Amino acid sequence: MKILRLENLTKNFGGLIAVNNVNIELQEGEILGIIGPNGAGKTTLTNLVAGTLEVSSGKIFFQDSDITNLPAHLRVRIGISRTFQTVRPLKDFTALENVVVGALFAKGESLSQARESAYKVCRFLKLERVDSYPDKLTVFELKKLEIARAIVCNPKVLFLDEVMAGLNFEEMKQMIQIVKSLKDEGMTICVIEHVMSVISELTDRVVVLDRGEVIAEGPYLEVSKNKRVIAAYLGEED
Ligand SMILES: Nc1ncnc2c1ncn2[C@@H]1O[C@H](COP(=O)(O)OP(=O)(O)O)[C@@H](O)[C@H]1O
Ligand SMILES: [Mg+2]
Repeated sequence: MKILRLENLTKNFGGLIAVNNVNIELQEGEILGIIGPNGAGKTTLTNLVAGTLEVSSGKIFFQDSDITNLPAHLRVRIGISRTFQTVRPLKDFTALENVVVGALFAKGESLSQARESAYKVCRFLKLERVDSYPDKLTVFELKKLEIARAIVCNPKVLFLDEVMAGLNFEEMKQMIQIVKSLKDEGMTICVIEHVMSVISELTDRVVVLDRGEVIAEGPYLEVSKNKRVIAAYLGEED
């Protein structure tokens, strides 16, 4: 069953078309990879789905209802969450408090319920130094904190925007396990990623974006042999 459908989705920034007539369907329970060179439109697409950017044209359907014009905070309530490529915790709050804030806002929980939910999520992610402030956390811990803030809202659909960036090999292995465990919890996940070994291991299917357009779609092994995809990545250097 499809849970999210993007229909002819387009976003212009002035003369630049960052997302161009994109059609993507997310099947419930799958891990979809979104790949493509820098500037392909992956983060913009995430912002459109989350509602942090308004679409220029096209539609977004969640469980068959049209959410194209739904405000971002209501999208979180119905079950759409995302992490930010550039982590942005609240600096004056501890790790735990950052997650508590997520639970308070998204779920409208009482403070004690929110603390309970936040602890649970941090334990699940093995984020141990919950009383530390963000400037004392490692990149790996900050990435976990980003995920904690996203999943404390109990999302049905989760967009992960480059959560592997800056991690070493061992941390990446742990992060892969985390994403798999989120899938086992029943989340439908969209993984935006540059590390192809991660895409290969995690995804059921990938969509390739280049200059805002979908240029290929299918299992990673198939898509990685596609001439247009190879050309798009080779073109990245110039
Ligand atoms: N807020 C913005 N204003 C103007 N241009 C933007 C904005 N956000 C992204 N862009 C441009 O849109 C294109 C796609 O960017 P982005 O979605 O960040 O790509 P990706 O995440 O795939 O690297 C790029 O050319 C980028 O410079
Ligand atoms: Mg990006």
